Amino acid sequence: MNPPPVAARELAREERFNLVWTRELNQVFADVAPYYDRANYVASLGLWDWFLQKFMDTVDIRPGERVLDVCAGTNAIGIALLKREPTLEVHAIDRSREMQAVGRQRAEARGFRIHSTIEDVHTLPFPDHHFDAVTLQFASRHLRVKHVWGEILRVLKPGGRFYHCDMLRPGNPTVETLYYTYLRFCLWFTGFVFRSGQPALNCKQYFIHALQMFYSADELSRVLEELGYCNVTSKSVFAGMMGFHRAVKPQIR
Ligand SMILES: C[S@@+](CC[C@H](N)C(=O)[O-])C[C@H]1O[C@@H](n2cnc3c(N)ncnc32)[C@H](O)[C@@H]1O
Repeated sequence: MNPPPVAARELAREERFNLVWTRELNQVFADVAPYYDRANYVASLGLWDWFLQKFMDTVDIRPGERVLDVCAGTNAIGIALLKREPTLEVHAIDRSREMQAVGRQRAEARGFRIHSTIEDVHTLPFPDHHFDAVTLQFASRHLRVKHVWGEILRVLKPGGRFYHCDMLRPGNPTVETLYYTYLRFCLWFTGFVFRSGQPALNCKQYFIHALQMFYSADELSRVLEELGYCNVTSKSVFAGMMGFHRAVKPQIR
């Protein structure tokens, strides 16, 4: 399936997925929260921690910085940041109370404090120029990307960095077909093993369609540049199935 050109993609994604995003997805993550980390470990064939490490390798932070993790889920990123630099002030925002409840327990078990906000990320409830760095992992497929990334640009300080990681739409059609076949199997397998509830089972097709309509690594770089980010760099792995982006908010002149 060929998605529409980049200029029309956001509108097409919104028209197609808006009902799932606004009415169903939050119930899916409420259902998935207790087994989210274990299911990802299984689905990634044990590579989940390696993915996290790969993303963290792209992130540079300095002591005392204020960092926001958007769509923080179970706080994998916040915990990894604090392990590396315990002096950070880490904030997490996510719409799912259940995912953040698991995240809070995980952080507290390691002696870390992460400031949690339960809100939809399309409006970030933070002042302009507030964060030194913002991270966003494995969630942009479920968002109005340009809108949220525009908000991230607003809350970043001039010179602040945005670090992004997500599963992407691979450019090669053969890779794409194999990838979706594997994902279909994973969704079925984890649903069976972890006894997913009806909300998650209902959304199995959505997870594939959301990727089919998503961006490639190069397309995401263009989106970042169009929004006004500078020094955009990207790296993809597994033939474009996953990508890491880094972008900077320009200094005010
Ligand atoms: C696949 S999880 C990723 C969690 C975490 N970033 C990670 O890497 O493990 C996606 C997260 O995005 C959150 N999310 C999706 N849409 C959202 C929205 N509109 N506003 C806030 N959070 C949202 C979900 O609640 C879920 O916790």
